[in-house]
Amino acid sequence: MKRLRPTSWINNIPAYVPGTSKDTIMKRFGISDPIKLASNENPLGPSPEAIKAIESSKRITHLYPDPDALDLRKAAAAFFGCTPEHIIAGNGSDEIIDFACRAFIEPGDEVIIPETTFSYYRIASLACGAKAVMTDMKDHAIDIDDIEAHLSEKTKAVFIANPNNPTGTCLDSKQILLLADRIPEHVLLVIDEAYAAFVRSQAFKSAVNLVHVHDNIVTIHTLSKSHGLAGLRVGFGIAGSSIMESLYRIKPPFNVNLLALKAGQAALYDLDFLKQTLETTWNGLDYLYAEATRLGLQFVPSQTNFVLINIGTGAEKVYEELLKRGIITRYMASYGLDDYIRVSIGLPSENQAFIKHLEEIL
Ligand SMILES: Cc1ncc(COP(=O)(O)O)c(C=O)c1O
Repeated sequence: MKRLRPTSWINNIPAYVPGTSKDTIMKRFGISDPIKLASNENPLGPSPEAIKAIESSKRITHLYPDPDALDLRKAAAAFFGCTPEHIIAGNGSDEIIDFACRAFIEPGDEVIIPETTFSYYRIASLACGAKAVMTDMKDHAIDIDDIEAHLSEKTKAVFIANPNNPTGTCLDSKQILLLADRIPEHVLLVIDEAYAAFVRSQAFKSAVNLVHVHDNIVTIHTLSKSHGLAGLRVGFGIAGSSIMESLYRIKPPFNVNLLALKAGQAALYDLDFLKQTLETTWNGLDYLYAEATRLGLQFVPSQTNFVLINIGTGAEKVYEELLKRGIITRYMASYGLDDYIRVSIGLPSENQAFIKHLEEIL
């Protein structure tokens, strides 16, 4: 009898490892209110305008949401500086990454992915039967020369996160232009700007305008971090008409739920909340830089809402000890960074608690 078999490549897909949840820490150590600095979430909570929108739409959740997400896309177009026709909304930006892979990648294609980056690019590419070609990092930053060196006849897509997770580094606008020019037109270039709102470097520029110049570029955006809606799942892809047409062909009709549509739209117009988020993040980063320096620890200066700190050979033990004290960070061994932990910026009191416990442990 023939047995049901999944695709021959499915067992090569590594599991996505999420940040340890607060629930896990409560169960493992009985700590009732742990501090989670592991998933780059917004420490201020959701935008208050988003909460109001959820409150006022909860009684219409028996209705299907707008399949075109038009109001949300209008708000996103105003925010990101493009027109609604060039935007597709997703159930988180993870879904947009999936759409891009499913629309363009065939079994046997090669996908170029930097060695130390967001792990879902690899998972989504491998799920389509692609071969992931990993490229070297240079001082924790994406190396565009190494990406170019790995282009082959089989390359179908290139992924970069700008700024990059988990290193926090970003490529400047000149490097992005160079990269866009070096990638052939028949290769999809995905530029993930999940953390773009947090960038302080003047040399950074969003690549959204490039989608009108290069038919092979899609940029990715999310409301999970800067707008505090990780639990609701709202993300976007921005691209020229030909990519858009392909992505829309595979979009499930009601992929963004009704509360996410309403809250996402409200959050995009809530510029006060964004301002507060950026102030909290930047003050928190500066605080952690100063404290890490005081403790004699090196870190990678970050353009995001998290920072990589070099703890040294005992990093895993320090991470575990922090967990026991109810401070959840991310140990970076799975990214090949055995000596590092990644810490998301929290509220001032949370950042202070992290430093207090880190100092005691060290
Ligand atoms: C670089 C990057 N892209 C995309 C995502 C996915 O975000 P979401 O699916 O919540 O929009 C993340 C989440 O951590 C990320 O770090």
